[in-house]
Amino acid sequence: MLLAGLLASFGAAVAPSRSLQSERVHVMSRLIIEGNHRLNGVVNIHGAKNSALPVLAATLLARGKSEIHNCPMLTDVAASVRILRYLGCSVSRSNGCITVDSIGLNRSDIPDNLMREMRSSIVFLGAIAARTGEAHISFPGGCELGTRPIDLHLSALRQLGMEILEERGRLECRVPGRLKGTTIALSFPSVGATENILLASVTAEGTTSILNAAREPEITDLCNYLTRCGARIAGAGESAITIEGVDALYGCSHTVIPDRIETATYMAAAAITGGSLVLNNICPEHIATVIPTFEEAGCRIDCKKNELLIKAPQRLQRIRSIRTMPYPGFPTDAQAPTMAMMCVADGTSVFVENIFESRFKHASELMRLGAKIKIEGRVAIVEGVPRLSGAQVKCTDLRGGAALVIAGLAAEGTTEVLELHHIDRGYDNFEQNLRNTGAVIQRLD
Ligand code: UD1
Repeated sequence: MLLAGLLASFGAAVAPSRSLQSERVHVMSRLIIEGNHRLNGVVNIHGAKNSALPVLAATLLARGKSEIHNCPMLTDVAASVRILRYLGCSVSRSNGCITVDSIGLNRSDIPDNLMREMRSSIVFLGAIAARTGEAHISFPGGCELGTRPIDLHLSALRQLGMEILEERGRLECRVPGRLKGTTIALSFPSVGATENILLASVTAEGTTSILNAAREPEITDLCNYLTRCGARIAGAGESAITIEGVDALYGCSHTVIPDRIETATYMAAAAITGGSLVLNNICPEHIATVIPTFEEAGCRIDCKKNELLIKAPQRLQRIRSIRTMPYPGFPTDAQAPTMAMMCVADGTSVFVENIFESRFKHASELMRLGAKIKIEGRVAIVEGVPRLSGAQVKCTDLRGGAALVIAGLAAEGTTEVLELHHIDRGYDNFEQNLRNTGAVIQRLD
């Protein structure tokens, strides 16, 4: 069915303008995709969500104004801004730059409704407690990816001297005097725990060492922001980070790094449609372990300084196996989009999810489109089929949702994707970028 006819048959209004998107209610939003159109053109990659969120939390530590450039327009970023404003900061936004002035900071609690908007709000804990001497927040709880405990965060903060009471779903935290530097060995290189330790220790007394720290580029970006504010950090991007506590930090100007997961998502979109895309404002080094996967699938990749060209073959080849690992391994966030593209590859691919216990929920939705996938615990076996066919599917989580859109781009007929609030957490201008490069896609509210 033609998209125009579909729109009429749903009797629906076309989505409101992009500028309203971060504020709008996502009830019943859906994407209608008429598949089987090659992507061709240019996409500008936005700033990394997973950098912007901890950096925004870190602005609490800096006296005076911080200007954070290249901040993407995402609902998770809007949620961070709401938390900063609730805490008393003044926040303004223009052209992708968020300016935060923490001078008015006058609270140390985050209400349950704001905590629930975004699981990663847990990263505010270290910053609030370090700045105000206390923090009262609710337990972030589980999410679509599994139970997602925060034991590593809490144990590390306790080692720095924070008193934490876990009571009826709340975390009541107090810092007697000042946090004190120590050596913290993480049993797993948790991204969030490393961020919380950094935020808590940059103004702690003495030296803090993090062993088995996460090495993700977003950690390095956070360290770069903190260093510009006056923090003394050595070893960012390595598994041992040393922090010499300073008395105070001062606001600065910082530009968020490009989003490597958004980059991988558009690579998968180009690959599955047999298309060709130029991705601007990327960092090749950050996707160094993703590129060989696409090459194994038969894509041609050319990287220049900040630009990547991907050209897909007529038919994708299977990828022998993909194992998600902490950085610099293959990112768990790119697993779902890559799985979508392997659904139509020639041959069988195996995915092993090593980071999250429950990150294959998109598989059953992909199967509604005709994909052949078997799940055995943390392993997914994807037997490529020549063609997917359009159906109604629901986003199960952020990257799983992106995977469904990618699959819909290559499916015969019309795919309807529901529960878009997941996608809006991490992709700015998603359907516009796809439409501008040849996809037939429309958002309906
Ligand atoms: C961050 C990213 C997310 C990415 C993930 C792994 C943000 C906002 N989110 O999430 O997109 O998929 O890194 O690259 O940056 N764990 C514990 N105890 C803890 C903390 C973590 O057991 O206290 C476990 C988790 O359940 C999970 C694994 O460690 O199985 C990795 O989690 P972590 O690296 O902390 O991921 P996040 O920071 O939550």
